[in-house]
Amino acid sequence: MTLPRHIAIIMDGNGRWASGRGLPRQAGHKEGVEPVRMCIRESMKRHIEALTLFAFSSENWGRPGDEVGALMGLFVEALDREMDELHGNGVRLLFIGERQNFPVRLQTRMLAAEGRTAANTALRLQIAVGYGGRWDIANAARTLAGRCVSGAMSPADITPETLGQAVQLAGLPDPDLFIRTGGEKRISNFLLWNLAYTELYFCDELWPDFTEAGFGTALEFFAARKRRYGLTDAQLGATR
Ligand code: FPP
Repeated sequence: MTLPRHIAIIMDGNGRWASGRGLPRQAGHKEGVEPVRMCIRESMKRHIEALTLFAFSSENWGRPGDEVGALMGLFVEALDREMDELHGNGVRLLFIGERQNFPVRLQTRMLAAEGRTAANTALRLQIAVGYGGRWDIANAARTLAGRCVSGAMSPADITPETLGQAVQLAGLPDPDLFIRTGGEKRISNFLLWNLAYTELYFCDELWPDFTEAGFGTALEFFAARKRRYGLTDAQLGATR
């Protein structure tokens, strides 16, 4: 079975999972930690190189203060609890997004986790926090504009390649498979630059209900796709 090298996931449906049980939305986020562990485990089992999870979008700052606060607390707790095991399993942890608005205690932990796991190679795990795809592209454009102003490069050097080297996932293969749980069929400002040729998989399970079986179904969907990257079948030669 052809496996993706890189999987990107929008973990949607925590709030609805909780509301459906008469619980506060925060309870859904808490329940959403286990499927995160499952996806890491399942990816490692199959030697998938990279996993990128959308944990908190730039737009999520607009949610009620108590929900935002609970999410921050949950991230801190999860990092404190899971770091040793992640590191022990050879996971390299990286955070993408604009993090200066996050509580200092969380920023400190994110930096420490990145430093501690920097040499690990079993799985590259990116957690998107305060992330927005448009922000990412604008940020990359700003970086290149700065280089043009300083004379390090000229506007003619701005190409898909150089811009691609300035976005947050620079250096990683683009995601081959995108998964969104929770029934909505949107990208919601996730990795706009990197999803150009990604296979998109949507399922109705709410994130806390996403299991090994659901992950396996997404991989089967991917294995059945024929990726052409704008070329014709004939150019690509034999089917896979
Ligand atoms: C979207 O569901 C989910 C989030 C905004 C938070 C994602 C966080 C987790 C899965 C917690 C664990 C994460 C890590 C990295 C430890 P929603 O609240 O938009 O659900 P709804 O669409 O039902 O309202």
